[in-house]
Amino acid sequence: MSRVTRRMFLSTTVAGGIAAAATPLSSAVQKKGIAARDAVVISSGNGIAATERAMAMIRQGSDALDAVIAGVNIVEDDPNDMTVGLGGLPNELGIVELDASVMHGPTHRAGSVASLRNIKNPSSVAKVVMERTDHVLLVGEGALNFARMHGFKEENLLTEESRKMWLKWKENLSTEDDYLPPHGIDDRDIGSRLHEVMQTYGTINCLGKDLNGNISGVTTTSGLSYKIPGRVGDSPIIGAGLYVDNEVGAAGSTGRGEANLTNCSSVMIVEFMRQGKSPEEACLMACQRIIDHTRMKRLLNKDGKPDFNVSFYAINKKGEHGSASLWQGGSYCLHDGVTNKKYETAYLLKGPR
Ligand code: GLY
Repeated sequence: MSRVTRRMFLSTTVAGGIAAAATPLSSAVQKKGIAARDAVVISSGNGIAATERAMAMIRQGSDALDAVIAGVNIVEDDPNDMTVGLGGLPNELGIVELDASVMHGPTHRAGSVASLRNIKNPSSVAKVVMERTDHVLLVGEGALNFARMHGFKEENLLTEESRKMWLKWKENLSTEDDYLPPHGIDDRDIGSRLHEVMQTYGTINCLGKDLNGNISGVTTTSGLSYKIPGRVGDSPIIGAGLYVDNEVGAAGSTGRGEANLTNCSSVMIVEFMRQGKSPEEACLMACQRIIDHTRMKRLLNKDGKPDFNVSFYAINKKGEHGSASLWQGGSYCLHDGVTNKKYETAYLLKGPR
């Protein structure tokens, strides 16, 4: 197995993916003489707007948790991102169910929600769980009631585009059932175009270190597309899809949540960093652990490698950062206090998957 750690700046045409000019420091921060370059924000590849907003807030003196949540709120609010919040791909019944977690380094508190319906910003609800309950995780009806109690607005999260994608999935799931996609009178094999349907574990993770040196993180997702109702992935599980230790660093993940649930990957990465590994080394070691632990034949390709992907993102107390995926092709966004860019993750496996 080749171990490749090439990190290549992605030439991107995505708006905001181009190096962004740094926003001016607040006068308070300038007076305190805090160096903006000590701050860092990292996210999964779909988070270039999130890293931009989070760093702008950090440069104005914001706590890292407020900043990263405000960052991912942009992506949750975006109906065109079909992996989180509004417009996220639904469960098998066509209902959008969201998962999210937050973790605050300086107080070592966390909050999360799972299988939350009708509220487009589960990351913000997770923060209120952290702040206004003695619990960490609320699920389903209980999470929705709690969000209502705190004034979160309910809305239908299924956009026309995600509804059409779900319907296409349902109508192409089998050639044997009674749901038929559009077809002609002479067509055969109606309902066999599942390969054309978008399927995803898509998620956004965002981690930040603020001007006080404090570290926090958030992970938010609509989870596995067309999942069994009630399926919960790694994103709302502290230690799996997100973990922060203010004295060491933070890690989070996107990709197949089941692999992180059975490997406790995010806490594993933080523990590798505690032992002295760089963020990138720690992420690669977690990738290797998943490869080593993937034994079910149905999850392996013809070469015996996992047929799914998982990506990790990490920062440490020094503000160093790293990211790695099982398979080549992953990306992450990094705002280093000066520029906001998208990069290719390190990886262990090279395609075809
Ligand atoms: N990593 C997102 C999920 O599996 O739900």
